[in-house]
Amino acid sequence: MTETVLLVGGGGREHAIARAVADDCALYACASNRNPGIRRLAEGFESIDETDAEAVADYATDVGADLAVIGPESALAAGVADALDDAGVYAFGPRAAEARLETDKAYQREFMEEASIPGCPDYAVFDDTEAACDYIDAADGDLAVKPAGLTGGKGVKVIGDQVTAEEAKAYLRDSGYDRVVLEERLVGEEFTVQAFVANGDVRTTPAVQDHKRAYEGDEGPNTGGMGSYSDTGRSLPFMDDGDYEAAVDVLEAVVDALPDYKGVLYGQFMLTDAGPKVVEFNARFGDPEAMNALPVLDTPFVDVLTAARDGSALPELAFSGEATVCKYAVPDGYPVDPDAGARIAVDEESVGDALLYYASVDERDDGLYTTTSRSFAVVGRGDSIAAAERQAEDGLSAAGDGLRIRHDVGTADLVERRIEHIDELRE
Ligand code: AMP
Ligand code: GLY
Repeated sequence: MTETVLLVGGGGREHAIARAVADDCALYACASNRNPGIRRLAEGFESIDETDAEAVADYATDVGADLAVIGPESALAAGVADALDDAGVYAFGPRAAEARLETDKAYQREFMEEASIPGCPDYAVFDDTEAACDYIDAADGDLAVKPAGLTGGKGVKVIGDQVTAEEAKAYLRDSGYDRVVLEERLVGEEFTVQAFVANGDVRTTPAVQDHKRAYEGDEGPNTGGMGSYSDTGRSLPFMDDGDYEAAVDVLEAVVDALPDYKGVLYGQFMLTDAGPKVVEFNARFGDPEAMNALPVLDTPFVDVLTAARDGSALPELAFSGEATVCKYAVPDGYPVDPDAGARIAVDEESVGDALLYYASVDERDDGLYTTTSRSFAVVGRGDSIAAAERQAEDGLSAAGDGLRIRHDVGTADLVERRIEHIDELRE
């Protein structure tokens, strides 16, 4: 039987999900922007705000969806999974209560402590800005300053890395967040492990390293992620298999404590001299990390979704064994002052063997326009990170003017620096 699947969201991550399922189902999609990649793969596309839970559930019912996949965290926070479940459409994505793991960073840490999840840094939660500033003054060592709510990955400031203690206090006083988490600054290399979760099962995908800083050499402000790479096996060149297994143990411990969790569970880890520590959990695929994991997944993703819905054991996952390198093209000025509403050209012919994923662009009658977020990504695959990087760079000749790219993602130099960093920490 052909399943009818509704995809919620219109970014690069969702284009990757669309491509992973389109051949094996009847795909419908809704998002606030018109993503041309998703639109072409879908039998129907409706412009709906991803956070309008009722409108999404109505559309799912109208198209006769058997199940739904939810891409963005904003939709999870708005209760889109709850609305779909209540309308009788199985949502592969946690209900708002479980998505708090991502949407409330104070809850995330308290949950980890109560459930004895390994890898939790020392932390404190504040509802009062001046008390938080006093804590910064008294701190013995550097801290990460995190607004408790969603900030698109751009709200965290790390003292001793991006800001001084004085700047962090000014940031808190200016922004007036209701709740903030202050936690021990973790030092090391970051990596992500994403797992498919349902019916108590956890199936993990290869580790990925994202690049959050806007500019080459890890300079500049944090972004949603400028690009990412994965290796031919499960772990990354600066990790050993034990580090990957420790990350999997953390994800499994979370699911033991939240047995009703369903959807993607994303663990962001810092590999420190004391092993992996948890930077955060997300309740959905990463963007760009979905574009590393899904193109190398040989198991049909629809089989994962239907097993999840049917209450069956999730299939064991098979991967192609290729390395991947993903690089985003973003509007000039992103993330601080993005040039939104600019018309851009993407020459699809010159992408070659690389994969092209459209992201936060808007397709109009007369062409493609930027929004305030990332425009499109190119993913190279190969039998090494170096080969995948070359393919991605070749594909990037598709990018016209008005776009910026971090060309250093996945290069041999950058990967070597990550390895040296961990070697130094572990000496
Ligand atoms: P988050 O939104 O929690 O993922 O934080 C965004 C980024 O801030 C992370 O990817 C890290 O680079 C950095 N960060 C968050 N928490 C910490 C921490 N405890 N120590 C060091 N860096 C952190
Ligand atoms: N790439 C980081 C995220 O999706 O949150």
